[in-house]
Amino acid sequence: MLAAMNRSHNEVAVITGGSAGLGLALAESLLERGWSVVTDARDPDRLHAAFPDHPRVTSLAGDVRDPEHQDAIGAAVARHGRLDLLVHNASELGPMLPLAEVPEPLFTSVLETNLLAPLSLTQRLLPYLIASRGILLGISSDAAVEHYPTWGTYAASKAALDHLILTLGEENGVRAYAVDPGDMRTAMHQAAFPGEDISDRPLPESVIPHLLELLSGVQPTGRYRAADLAPVGANR
Ligand SMILES: NC(=O)c1ccc[n+]([C@@H]2O[C@H](COP(=O)([O-])OP(=O)(O)OC[C@H]3O[C@@H](n4cnc5c(N)ncnc54)[C@H](OP(=O)(O)O)[C@@H]3O)[C@@H](O)[C@H]2O)c1
Repeated sequence: MLAAMNRSHNEVAVITGGSAGLGLALAESLLERGWSVVTDARDPDRLHAAFPDHPRVTSLAGDVRDPEHQDAIGAAVARHGRLDLLVHNASELGPMLPLAEVPEPLFTSVLETNLLAPLSLTQRLLPYLIASRGILLGISSDAAVEHYPTWGTYAASKAALDHLILTLGEENGVRAYAVDPGDMRTAMHQAAFPGEDISDRPLPESVIPHLLELLSGVQPTGRYRAADLAPVGANR
């Protein structure tokens, strides 16, 4: 199974939000292992700078909530003719406010990015995922199972995303994982802790060996903390 991660044939991943943070680190790791990657982000300059002219990257600038953009992702997968991994990683932190004070439009916006977009994108890509016996991966958060004051909007979206991912897995016979990556030194984390020195948080690259363990196919469908997954070494 670990050999499967290094297979010479061209496995294909869709990773939303691949221009920065965890999405970029995962995309780079899979590219090193010979995969092809279809990825997106809203800022075209940062997205294209992340993968300058890489022959196995399809980088599509757009908002994951946009149906036409989702069609473009679907068309890229259709060109490959297979999908081995679908990662719902792009995410919106939303308002850091007590739920009693959250304006409904801001709550809706977070649900659109973190929940509705993953559902509709999965619906588009599911036939490929099933045919390739692929893996559905939702990037979750400890906030999905904790109840931190002012995190309620984001937390509710992540709890619902977990449910969505794992139910899609059960309904369709695909392996599905909801994974809490843990704190990471990224723009989103800095936005959650404005003005705080986050230099003690691990870089997103440190999470990747744990995510790769899921690609081995050994773990049953379920929710995991990345730190609890045995890291896959660079030579495996
Ligand atoms: N960082 C942490 O401590 C932490 C902890 C627990 C869970 N997580 C989860 O880990 C995942 C990755 O987070 P991160 O910290 O790596 O975030 P990040 O560094 O802020 O990167 C987010 C990526 O997603 C893209 N993106 C955001 N909204 C998008 C949209 N609507 N459409 C398309 N692309 C979009 C961003 O590019 P554009 O802005 O150009 O669109 C960027 O490429 C998220 O699901 C997050 O909830 C993070």
